[in-house]
Amino acid sequence: MVQLTLPKNSKPTRGKEHKVLSPKGDIRRVYVYRYNPDKKDNPRIDIFELDTADCGPMVLDALIKIKNEIDSTLTFRRSCREGVCGSCSMNVNGTNTLACTKSMNDLRGEIHIYPLPHMKVVKDLVPDLTHAYKQYAQIEPWLKTGDSIPEKEQLQSPEEREKLDGLWECILCFCCSAGCPSYWWNSDKFLGPATLLQSYRWVADSRDNHTNGRLENLEDPFKMYRCHTILNCTTTCPKDLNPGKAIAELKKSILKKRENSFL
Ligand code: SF4
Ligand code: SF4
Ligand code: FES
Repeated sequence: MVQLTLPKNSKPTRGKEHKVLSPKGDIRRVYVYRYNPDKKDNPRIDIFELDTADCGPMVLDALIKIKNEIDSTLTFRRSCREGVCGSCSMNVNGTNTLACTKSMNDLRGEIHIYPLPHMKVVKDLVPDLTHAYKQYAQIEPWLKTGDSIPEKEQLQSPEEREKLDGLWECILCFCCSAGCPSYWWNSDKFLGPATLLQSYRWVADSRDNHTNGRLENLEDPFKMYRCHTILNCTTTCPKDLNPGKAIAELKKSILKKRENSFL
């Protein structure tokens, strides 16, 4: 039987434990993945006890408290703290999510925090998104209207504008791509759900006139067709978007384009 196991130097070890000595409220135990590529050590899991009477309610509040008061070397990304910048995506109790919108009250017992899975780690909870952003750039994520600048504003009807709902809200947190099994194994060629949802965002935009070129760019065995409609992406999206549906819409648009070319 195939043995699936981490290489020896990637196995997390038990790290430091930080206790609260005189708690005023309930104690939450938070297990945090730590890794510093500048050191030769294995990753480790540090354990932090937090007094709920003295800490904000969100997972991000816990991380900020740890960084401010217990261990200033803890590294993570955050900016807006209200679910709009996409920086604080990480894996909390087995689910990719945003630390700033995940309430600790919704998590039972111990809290386990890891970086987004199947991505290189820059340090602690910071994933390396270089490759994901290169793939995002490949879809040319901007409005393309032709060679000349339009002379007047390009209006949309309410119905045309409505087609962008469920797409424009994407904050590029990459929770979905990091949760997609096809992306884990084929991220070198498969664009992944975040970039594909963004691709459909431009295909669906009535003001963009490069639809055919955008669809042709996806017609290869890997870029889009590695999606097997498992829908982990949709389940994990912290903005309640549906990247799986967006990918299905892209596939339908390609079929329509082919049909039209036979007419
Ligand atoms: S679709 Fe959802 S999970 Fe994926 S990048 Fe956008 S907001 Fe994040
Ligand atoms: S539906 Fe497609 S993109 Fe989403 S998790 Fe499944 S394979 Fe990945
Ligand atoms: S800090 Fe901006 S989405 Fe969490």
